[in-house]
Amino acid sequence: MLQWINSRFPITDLVERHLSKYPAPTNLNFWYLFGFLLIIVLVMQILTGLWLMMNYTNTAEEAFSSVEYIMRDVEYGWLLRYLHAAGASAFFVLIYLHMFRGMMYGSYQKPRELIWLGGWVTYVLLCAEGFTGYVLPWGQMSFWAAQVIISLLGSIPFIGEDLATWVRGDYLISGITLSRLFAFHVVLLPIMLIAVVFFHILALHEIGSNNPDGIDIKKHVDDDGVPLDSKPFYPYDITHDVYALGVFLIFFCAIVFFFPGGGGYILETVNFEPANPLSTPEHIVPSWYYTPYYAMLRAVDFSLFGLTAKFLGFVTMAAGIAIFAALPWLDRSPVKSIRYKGIYSKIFLAGFVVSFFVLGYLGLVPPTEIKNILAKVFTIIYFSYFLLMPIYTRLEKCKPVPERVPT
Ligand code: HEM
Repeated sequence: MLQWINSRFPITDLVERHLSKYPAPTNLNFWYLFGFLLIIVLVMQILTGLWLMMNYTNTAEEAFSSVEYIMRDVEYGWLLRYLHAAGASAFFVLIYLHMFRGMMYGSYQKPRELIWLGGWVTYVLLCAEGFTGYVLPWGQMSFWAAQVIISLLGSIPFIGEDLATWVRGDYLISGITLSRLFAFHVVLLPIMLIAVVFFHILALHEIGSNNPDGIDIKKHVDDDGVPLDSKPFYPYDITHDVYALGVFLIFFCAIVFFFPGGGGYILETVNFEPANPLSTPEHIVPSWYYTPYYAMLRAVDFSLFGLTAKFLGFVTMAAGIAIFAALPWLDRSPVKSIRYKGIYSKIFLAGFVVSFFVLGYLGLVPPTEIKNILAKVFTIIYFSYFLLMPIYTRLEKCKPVPERVPT
Protein backbone atom coordinates (compact mmCIF):
# COMPACT_ATOMS: atom_id res chain seq x y z
CA MET A 1 0.00 0.00 0.00
CA LEU A 2 2.78 2.40 1.06
CA GLN A 3 4.75 1.49 -2.07
CA TRP A 4 1.70 2.21 -4.21
CA ILE A 5 1.27 5.61 -2.59
CA ASN A 6 5.02 6.36 -2.65
CA SER A 7 5.33 5.82 -6.38
CA ARG A 8 2.54 8.36 -6.92
CA PHE A 9 3.19 10.74 -4.02
CA PRO A 10 6.53 10.22 -2.20
CA ILE A 11 5.09 10.52 1.28
CA THR A 12 7.88 8.55 3.03
CA ASP A 13 10.49 10.85 1.52
CA LEU A 14 8.48 13.90 2.59
CA VAL A 15 8.05 12.70 6.19
CA GLU A 16 11.73 11.75 6.42
CA ARG A 17 12.90 15.06 5.02
CA HIS A 18 10.65 17.27 7.13
CA LEU A 19 10.24 15.20 10.26
CA SER A 20 12.00 11.99 11.20
CA LYS A 21 15.36 12.62 9.52
CA TYR A 22 15.36 16.42 9.65
CA PRO A 23 18.95 17.23 10.73
CA ALA A 24 18.70 19.27 13.92
CA PRO A 25 21.95 20.85 15.18
CA THR A 26 23.41 18.97 18.15
CA ASN A 27 23.67 22.10 20.30
CA LEU A 28 19.98 23.13 20.33
CA ASN A 29 18.92 24.17 23.83
CA PHE A 30 15.88 25.16 25.93
CA TRP A 31 15.12 28.11 23.64
CA TYR A 32 14.41 25.76 20.74
CA LEU A 33 11.39 24.17 22.44
CA PHE A 34 8.94 27.00 21.89
CA GLY A 35 8.28 26.49 18.17
CA PHE A 36 6.92 23.01 18.88
CA LEU A 37 4.82 24.30 21.80
CA LEU A 38 3.46 27.09 19.57
CA ILE A 39 2.19 24.50 17.11
CA ILE A 40 0.48 22.57 19.94
CA VAL A 41 -1.19 25.75 21.25
CA LEU A 42 -2.28 26.71 17.73
CA VAL A 43 -4.00 23.33 17.31
CA MET A 44 -5.58 23.61 20.77
CA GLN A 45 -6.93 27.10 20.01
CA ILE A 46 -8.45 25.90 16.76
CA LEU A 47 -10.13 22.89 18.38
CA THR A 48 -11.45 24.69 21.48
CA GLY A 49 -12.51 27.63 19.29
CA LEU A 50 -14.44 25.31 17.01
CA TRP A 51 -16.36 23.84 19.93
CA LEU A 52 -17.00 27.24 21.51
CA MET A 53 -18.39 28.42 18.21
CA MET A 54 -21.03 25.69 18.32
CA ASN A 55 -22.78 27.49 21.19
CA TYR A 56 -21.75 31.11 20.75
CA THR A 57 -24.10 33.68 19.19
CA ASN A 58 -22.53 36.60 17.35
CA THR A 59 -25.18 39.26 17.94
CA ALA A 60 -24.99 42.25 20.27
CA GLU A 61 -28.19 41.06 22.00
CA GLU A 62 -27.08 37.52 22.69
CA ALA A 63 -23.27 37.33 22.62
CA PHE A 64 -22.76 38.00 26.34
CA SER A 65 -25.49 35.62 27.48
CA SER A 66 -24.36 32.91 25.04
CA VAL A 67 -20.93 32.99 26.70
CA GLU A 68 -22.60 32.68 30.13
CA TYR A 69 -24.65 29.79 28.72
CA ILE A 70 -21.43 28.10 27.58
CA MET A 71 -19.95 28.60 31.06
CA ARG A 72 -22.99 27.33 33.01
CA ASP A 73 -25.07 24.99 30.89
CA VAL A 74 -23.00 23.50 28.07
CA GLU A 75 -21.29 20.25 29.11
CA TYR A 76 -17.65 21.15 29.78
CA GLY A 77 -18.28 24.56 28.23
CA TRP A 78 -16.36 26.17 31.13
CA LEU A 79 -13.37 24.00 30.29
CA LEU A 80 -13.47 24.91 26.61
CA ARG A 81 -13.63 28.60 27.45
CA TYR A 82 -10.91 28.49 30.08
CA LEU A 83 -8.64 26.49 27.77
CA HIS A 84 -9.24 28.97 24.95
CA ALA A 85 -8.71 32.06 27.13
CA ALA A 86 -5.61 30.72 28.89
CA GLY A 87 -4.45 29.40 25.50
CA ALA A 88 -4.46 32.96 24.14
CA SER A 89 -2.17 34.16 26.93
CA ALA A 90 0.05 31.07 26.59
CA PHE A 91 0.30 31.73 22.84
CA PHE A 92 1.74 35.19 23.50
CA VAL A 93 4.11 34.03 26.26
CA LEU A 94 5.47 31.40 23.87
CA ILE A 95 5.65 33.68 20.84
CA TYR A 96 7.57 36.35 22.79
CA LEU A 97 10.07 33.74 24.03
CA HIS A 98 10.35 32.31 20.51
CA MET A 99 11.00 35.74 19.00
CA PHE A 100 13.51 36.61 21.69
CA ARG A 101 15.44 33.39 20.91
CA GLY A 102 15.65 34.52 17.29
CA MET A 103 16.97 37.92 18.41
CA MET A 104 19.56 36.37 20.73
CA TYR A 105 20.95 33.92 18.24
CA GLY A 106 20.61 36.08 15.12
CA SER A 107 18.24 33.56 13.53
CA TYR A 108 16.87 36.36 11.33
CA GLN A 109 20.20 36.85 9.55
CA LYS A 110 20.99 35.62 6.06
CA PRO A 111 19.80 33.10 4.80
CA ARG A 112 16.84 32.97 7.23
CA GLU A 113 15.24 36.36 6.45
CA LEU A 114 12.10 34.78 4.99
CA ILE A 115 11.70 32.43 7.97
CA TRP A 116 11.85 35.48 10.22
CA LEU A 117 9.46 37.51 8.06
CA GLY A 118 7.00 34.59 7.93
CA GLY A 119 7.20 34.39 11.72
CA TRP A 120 6.67 38.13 12.03
CA VAL A 121 3.52 37.90 9.89
CA THR A 122 2.20 35.18 12.24
CA TYR A 123 2.83 37.57 15.14
CA VAL A 124 0.88 40.40 13.47
CA LEU A 125 -1.94 37.98 12.64
CA LEU A 126 -1.92 36.73 16.22
CA CYS A 127 -2.26 40.29 17.51
CA ALA A 128 -5.29 40.74 15.24
CA GLU A 129 -6.66 37.35 16.32
CA GLY A 130 -6.28 38.30 20.00
CA PHE A 131 -8.02 41.63 19.50
CA THR A 132 -10.97 40.24 17.51
CA GLY A 133 -11.41 37.39 20.02
CA TYR A 134 -11.41 39.81 22.95
CA VAL A 135 -14.42 41.62 21.51
CA LEU A 136 -16.56 38.49 21.13
CA PRO A 137 -17.79 38.01 24.75
CA TRP A 138 -19.28 41.53 24.40
CA GLY A 139 -18.47 42.56 27.95
CA GLN A 140 -17.56 46.09 29.01
CA MET A 141 -13.88 45.69 28.14
CA SER A 142 -14.71 44.01 24.83
CA PHE A 143 -16.82 46.97 23.82
CA TRP A 144 -14.47 49.68 25.00
CA ALA A 145 -11.32 48.01 23.70
CA ALA A 146 -12.97 47.88 20.27
CA GLN A 147 -13.92 51.53 20.70
CA VAL A 148 -10.35 52.61 21.58
CA ILE A 149 -8.59 50.55 18.91
CA ILE A 150 -10.94 51.37 16.03
CA SER A 151 -11.02 55.05 17.00
CA LEU A 152 -7.23 55.09 16.52
CA LEU A 153 -7.91 54.78 12.81
CA GLY A 154 -9.98 57.95 13.14
CA SER A 155 -6.77 59.86 13.95
CA ILE A 156 -5.30 59.29 10.48
CA PRO A 157 -5.31 62.67 8.67
CA PHE A 158 -7.94 63.21 5.95
CA ILE A 159 -9.29 59.67 5.58
CA GLY A 160 -9.36 58.66 9.29
CA GLU A 161 -13.01 59.20 10.21
CA ASP A 162 -14.33 57.59 7.03
CA LEU A 163 -11.96 54.66 7.48
CA ALA A 164 -13.08 54.12 11.09
CA THR A 165 -16.75 54.20 10.05
CA TRP A 166 -16.02 51.74 7.23
CA VAL A 167 -14.21 49.34 9.59
CA ARG A 168 -16.95 49.61 12.27
CA GLY A 169 -19.70 49.25 9.66
CA ASP A 170 -21.62 51.78 11.74
CA TYR A 171 -21.22 55.21 13.34
CA LEU A 172 -20.65 53.54 16.74
CA ILE A 173 -19.35 50.14 17.77
CA SER A 174 -22.41 47.93 17.34
CA GLY A 175 -23.66 44.44 16.57
CA ILE A 176 -22.51 44.99 12.98
CA THR A 177 -18.92 45.49 14.20
CA LEU A 178 -19.23 42.42 16.42
CA SER A 179 -20.43 40.25 13.60
CA ARG A 180 -17.60 41.24 11.23
CA LEU A 181 -14.93 40.83 13.91
CA PHE A 182 -16.40 37.39 14.58
CA ALA A 183 -16.05 36.48 10.89
CA PHE A 184 -12.40 37.60 10.95
CA HIS A 185 -11.71 35.76 14.19
CA VAL A 186 -13.11 32.40 13.16
CA VAL A 187 -12.45 32.26 9.41
CA LEU A 188 -10.08 34.72 7.78
CA LEU A 189 -7.38 35.13 10.43
CA PRO A 190 -7.10 31.42 11.39
CA ILE A 191 -6.81 30.42 7.72
CA MET A 192 -4.10 33.00 7.18
CA LEU A 193 -2.35 31.96 10.38
CA ILE A 194 -2.28 28.29 9.41
CA ALA A 195 -1.05 29.12 5.89
CA VAL A 196 1.75 31.37 7.16
CA VAL A 197 2.85 28.89 9.86
CA PHE A 198 2.98 26.22 7.15
CA PHE A 199 5.21 28.49 5.05
CA HIS A 200 7.33 29.35 8.11
CA ILE A 201 8.12 25.72 8.86
CA LEU A 202 8.59 24.77 5.22
CA ALA A 203 11.05 27.64 4.76
CA LEU A 204 12.89 26.57 7.92
CA HIS A 205 13.18 22.99 6.72
CA GLU A 206 14.52 24.02 3.33
CA ILE A 207 17.27 26.20 4.87
CA GLY A 208 17.84 24.34 8.14
CA SER A 209 17.83 25.48 11.75
CA ASN A 210 20.24 28.00 13.14
CA ASN A 211 21.72 27.16 16.57
CA PRO A 212 22.84 28.91 19.79
CA ASP A 213 26.38 29.37 18.41
CA GLY A 214 25.19 30.62 15.04
CA ILE A 215 27.49 28.11 13.30
CA ASP A 216 26.68 27.06 9.74
CA ILE A 217 26.50 23.29 10.25
CA LYS A 218 26.10 22.65 6.51
CA LYS A 219 29.80 23.43 5.97
CA HIS A 220 30.84 20.01 7.31
CA VAL A 221 28.78 17.11 5.98
CA ASP A 222 29.23 13.32 5.76
CA ASP A 223 29.22 11.27 2.52
CA ASP A 224 25.39 11.36 2.42
CA GLY A 225 25.36 15.15 2.72
CA VAL A 226 24.10 15.04 6.34
CA PRO A 227 25.72 17.74 8.53
CA LEU A 228 28.22 16.20 10.97
CA ASP A 229 27.02 18.44 13.80
CA SER A 230 23.41 17.30 13.52
CA LYS A 231 21.17 14.55 14.82
CA PRO A 232 17.89 13.33 13.31
CA PHE A 233 14.75 14.99 14.68
CA TYR A 234 13.34 11.55 15.51
CA PRO A 235 14.01 10.13 18.09
CA TYR A 236 16.39 12.75 19.56
CA ASP A 237 14.78 16.17 19.24
CA ILE A 238 11.20 15.03 19.51
CA THR A 239 11.99 13.53 22.94
CA HIS A 240 12.96 16.98 24.23
CA ASP A 241 9.87 18.51 22.65
CA VAL A 242 7.50 15.97 24.22
CA TYR A 243 9.19 16.39 27.60
CA ALA A 244 8.76 20.16 27.27
CA LEU A 245 5.11 19.63 26.41
CA GLY A 246 4.66 17.68 29.67
CA VAL A 247 6.22 20.50 31.70
CA PHE A 248 4.20 23.12 29.81
CA LEU A 249 0.96 21.21 30.45
CA ILE A 250 1.64 21.05 34.20
CA PHE A 251 1.76 24.84 34.36
CA PHE A 252 -1.00 25.34 31.82
CA CYS A 253 -3.44 22.93 33.53
CA ALA A 254 -2.63 24.40 36.95
CA ILE A 255 -3.77 27.77 35.60
CA VAL A 256 -6.82 26.43 33.74
CA PHE A 257 -8.11 24.42 36.71
CA PHE A 258 -7.07 26.50 39.70
CA PHE A 259 -6.52 30.06 38.47
CA PRO A 260 -8.54 30.42 35.25
CA GLY A 261 -8.98 34.20 35.42
CA GLY A 262 -5.25 34.63 35.99
CA GLY A 263 -5.91 37.39 38.55
CA GLY A 264 -7.69 39.47 35.91
CA TYR A 265 -4.89 39.07 33.34
CA ILE A 266 -6.42 36.13 31.45
CA LEU A 267 -10.09 37.05 31.89
CA GLU A 268 -10.55 40.66 32.94
CA THR A 269 -12.88 41.34 35.84
CA VAL A 270 -14.62 44.29 34.12
CA ASN A 271 -15.47 42.01 31.20
CA PHE A 272 -17.89 40.05 33.38
CA GLU A 273 -20.26 43.04 33.00
CA PRO A 274 -22.24 43.20 29.74
CA ALA A 275 -21.22 45.86 27.19
CA ASN A 276 -22.76 49.22 27.98
CA PRO A 277 -22.18 52.04 25.46
CA LEU A 278 -23.41 54.59 28.03
CA SER A 279 -20.90 53.79 30.76
CA THR A 280 -17.15 54.06 30.16
CA PRO A 281 -15.02 51.90 32.52
CA GLU A 282 -12.67 53.90 34.73
CA HIS A 283 -9.49 52.39 33.27
CA ILE A 284 -9.51 50.92 29.81
CA VAL A 285 -6.60 48.49 29.71
CA PRO A 286 -5.79 46.07 26.91
CA SER A 287 -4.74 42.45 27.53
CA TRP A 288 -1.28 42.17 29.10
CA TYR A 289 0.36 41.10 25.85
CA TYR A 290 -0.38 44.43 24.16
CA THR A 291 0.52 46.69 27.08
CA PRO A 292 4.10 47.54 25.95
CA TYR A 293 2.60 49.02 22.77
CA TYR A 294 -0.26 50.65 24.66
CA ALA A 295 2.34 52.40 26.85
CA MET A 296 4.05 53.70 23.67
CA LEU A 297 0.71 55.00 22.41
CA ARG A 298 0.15 56.91 25.65
CA ALA A 299 3.77 58.10 25.87
CA VAL A 300 3.24 60.33 22.83
CA ASP A 301 1.20 63.20 24.26
CA PHE A 302 2.42 66.02 22.01
CA SER A 303 1.48 67.07 18.50
CA LEU A 304 4.09 67.78 15.85
CA PHE A 305 3.95 69.37 12.36
CA GLY A 306 0.17 69.65 12.63
CA LEU A 307 -0.20 65.91 13.34
CA THR A 308 -2.25 65.07 16.44
CA ALA A 309 -0.75 63.33 19.48
CA LYS A 310 -3.21 60.47 18.97
CA PHE A 311 -2.03 59.88 15.41
CA LEU A 312 1.65 60.10 16.36
CA GLY A 313 1.03 57.67 19.24
CA PHE A 314 -0.70 55.30 16.85
CA VAL A 315 2.23 55.48 14.43
CA THR A 316 4.73 54.87 17.26
CA MET A 317 2.76 51.86 18.45
CA ALA A 318 2.49 50.40 14.94
CA ALA A 319 6.20 51.07 14.36
CA GLY A 320 7.01 49.19 17.60
CA ILE A 321 5.49 46.07 16.06
CA ALA A 322 6.60 46.68 12.46
CA ILE A 323 10.24 47.27 13.27
CA PHE A 324 10.87 43.58 14.05
CA ALA A 325 10.49 42.93 10.31
CA ALA A 326 13.51 45.14 9.58
CA LEU A 327 15.90 43.28 11.92
CA PRO A 328 17.61 41.19 9.19
CA TRP A 329 18.66 44.42 7.46
CA LEU A 330 19.55 46.38 10.58
CA ASP A 331 22.03 43.85 11.95
CA ARG A 332 25.43 44.35 10.25
CA SER A 333 27.35 42.04 12.56
CA PRO A 334 29.66 39.44 10.94
CA VAL A 335 28.45 36.89 13.55
CA LYS A 336 24.96 35.65 14.36
CA SER A 337 24.81 34.63 18.00
CA ILE A 338 24.94 36.95 20.99
CA ARG A 339 27.56 34.53 22.38
CA TYR A 340 30.10 35.89 19.89
CA LYS A 341 28.81 39.44 19.43
CA GLY A 342 30.48 42.35 21.22
CA ILE A 343 29.51 44.23 24.34
CA TYR A 344 27.29 46.84 22.61
CA SER A 345 24.93 44.18 21.23
CA LYS A 346 24.64 42.69 24.71
CA ILE A 347 23.90 46.06 26.33
CA PHE A 348 21.32 47.05 23.71
CA LEU A 349 19.60 43.65 23.81
CA ALA A 350 19.41 43.87 27.62
CA GLY A 351 18.02 47.43 27.23
CA PHE A 352 15.38 46.11 24.85
CA VAL A 353 14.28 43.40 27.33
CA VAL A 354 14.11 45.82 30.25
CA SER A 355 12.18 48.38 28.18
CA PHE A 356 9.71 45.71 27.02
CA PHE A 357 8.93 44.73 30.63
CA VAL A 358 8.82 48.29 31.96
CA LEU A 359 6.56 49.44 29.11
CA GLY A 360 4.41 46.34 29.69
CA TYR A 361 3.96 47.42 33.30
CA LEU A 362 3.36 51.08 32.44
CA GLY A 363 0.66 50.11 29.94
CA LEU A 364 -1.21 48.26 32.69
CA VAL A 365 -1.38 51.01 35.30
CA PRO A 366 -3.16 54.39 35.19
CA PRO A 367 -0.86 57.11 33.82
CA THR A 368 0.74 59.73 36.06
CA GLU A 369 3.20 62.46 35.20
CA ILE A 370 6.27 60.53 36.30
CA LYS A 371 5.04 57.32 34.64
CA ASN A 372 4.55 59.24 31.43
CA ILE A 373 8.16 60.44 31.51
CA LEU A 374 9.30 56.86 32.17
CA ALA A 375 7.19 55.64 29.22
CA LYS A 376 8.92 58.16 26.95
CA VAL A 377 12.40 57.16 28.16
CA PHE A 378 11.76 53.44 27.73
CA THR A 379 10.12 53.91 24.33
CA ILE A 380 13.37 55.58 23.24
CA ILE A 381 15.44 52.70 24.69
CA TYR A 382 13.18 50.19 22.92
CA PHE A 383 13.64 51.84 19.53
CA SER A 384 17.35 52.50 20.01
CA TYR A 385 17.97 48.72 20.12
CA PHE A 386 16.72 48.57 16.54
CA LEU A 387 17.62 51.94 15.06
CA LEU A 388 21.18 52.10 16.36
CA MET A 389 21.86 48.48 15.42
CA PRO A 390 23.51 49.27 12.05
CA ILE A 391 26.00 51.44 13.96
CA TYR A 392 26.79 49.43 17.08
CA THR A 393 27.00 46.07 15.31
CA ARG A 394 29.68 47.53 13.03
CA LEU A 395 31.64 49.29 15.77
CA GLU A 396 31.95 46.46 18.26
CA LYS A 397 34.58 43.73 18.38
CA CYS A 398 33.21 40.20 17.99
CA LYS A 399 34.71 36.90 19.20
CA PRO A 400 35.79 34.36 16.56
CA VAL A 401 33.10 31.74 15.82
CA PRO A 402 34.33 28.10 15.95
CA GLU A 403 34.21 26.09 12.70
CA ARG A 404 32.38 23.18 14.35
CA VAL A 405 29.84 23.01 17.18
CA PRO A 406 31.79 22.97 20.48
CA THR A 407 31.37 19.70 22.38
C1 HEM B 1 2.17 30.70 15.44
C2 HEM B 1 3.38 31.14 15.49
C3 HEM B 1 4.63 30.36 15.23
C4 HEM B 1 4.84 29.01 15.12
C5 HEM B 1 3.81 27.88 15.23
C6 HEM B 1 6.24 28.81 14.87
C7 HEM B 1 6.84 27.58 14.71
C8 HEM B 1 8.21 27.37 14.59
C9 HEM B 1 8.87 26.09 14.67
C10 HEM B 1 8.18 24.75 14.89
C11 HEM B 1 10.19 26.31 14.52
C12 HEM B 1 11.30 25.24 14.59
C13 HEM B 1 11.57 24.92 16.05
C14 HEM B 1 12.21 26.04 16.81
O1 HEM B 1 13.23 26.55 16.33
O2 HEM B 1 11.67 26.45 17.85
C15 HEM B 1 10.38 27.72 14.31
C16 HEM B 1 11.59 28.35 14.06
C17 HEM B 1 11.77 29.70 13.86
N1 HEM B 1 10.81 30.67 14.06
FE1 HEM B 1 8.86 30.37 14.45
N2 HEM B 1 6.86 30.03 14.83
C18 HEM B 1 5.93 31.01 15.06
C19 HEM B 1 6.13 32.37 15.14
C20 HEM B 1 7.35 32.99 14.91
C21 HEM B 1 7.60 34.41 15.03
C22 HEM B 1 6.56 35.43 15.45
C23 HEM B 1 8.91 34.62 14.67
C24 HEM B 1 9.68 35.91 14.57
C25 HEM B 1 9.20 37.08 14.38
C26 HEM B 1 9.49 33.34 14.36
C27 HEM B 1 10.79 33.14 13.95
C28 HEM B 1 11.39 31.90 13.82
C29 HEM B 1 12.78 31.70 13.42
C30 HEM B 1 13.79 32.79 13.03
C31 HEM B 1 13.00 30.33 13.44
C32 HEM B 1 14.33 29.62 13.12
C33 HEM B 1 15.11 29.68 14.40
C34 HEM B 1 16.45 29.01 14.36
O3 HEM B 1 16.64 28.10 13.57
O4 HEM B 1 17.30 29.45 15.17
N3 HEM B 1 8.51 32.37 14.52
N4 HEM B 1 9.15 28.36 14.37
